[in-house]
Amino acid sequence: MNRTLGVLISGRGSNLQAIIDAIVQGALDACIGVVISNRPEATGLERARRAGIETLCLGHRGYASREDYDRALVGALRARGVGLVCLAGFMRLLSPVFVEAFPNAILNIHPSLLPAFPGLEAQHQAWAHGVKISGATVHLVDRDLDAGPIVAQRAVPVMDDDTADTLSARILEQEHLLYPEAIRLVLSGDWSIEGRRFRLGAGSVAGT
Ligand code: GRF
Repeated sequence: MNRTLGVLISGRGSNLQAIIDAIVQGALDACIGVVISNRPEATGLERARRAGIETLCLGHRGYASREDYDRALVGALRARGVGLVCLAGFMRLLSPVFVEAFPNAILNIHPSLLPAFPGLEAQHQAWAHGVKISGATVHLVDRDLDAGPIVAQRAVPVMDDDTADTLSARILEQEHLLYPEAIRLVLSGDWSIEGRRFRLGAGSVAGT
């Protein structure tokens, strides 16, 4: 499988940093072809520059539609030979134009145990609901929000004295371990999708 990643961010970029660190440490055999942000102030852009990775800021203003913006994104990723797109706190809904350009080759990380608590502020949703276990999920992206086949998850217990913030911080620590691990699994190419189940060692998508 093509090991060039394109990472899409909108803000802090701590998951981006975890991916960069895993590559530098030799724990993840991949390279990041480009980091794209839709917001110029995203501090993740600075993390990428420090690591010598090409960055691109692509604001949505000036595009007539979501589809036009997504076509520009796809063009930028293809121009850099990206084979796997990693959403890392990218705060935009993707249109079918984008999803269909990279079939089963877009990953997202979400701070809950999906399918519980999709959407915004998942950690707060889980805390307010009173669940005793939450966590993080990496999934393939399809047309629906936070809904594609689940690649990997990590559970995080919710403590009685947690606030939404302390819970978020512990989930984030697990996200930083989970995302590089999930990318490694997907890049192995040794998996298949059955129904909506991501199954390791059950086939091969190598060569895609
Ligand atoms: C993370 O909590 C991730 O799960 C969610 O957005 C946040 C991004 O954080 N999708 P960062 O920009 O990677 O620090």
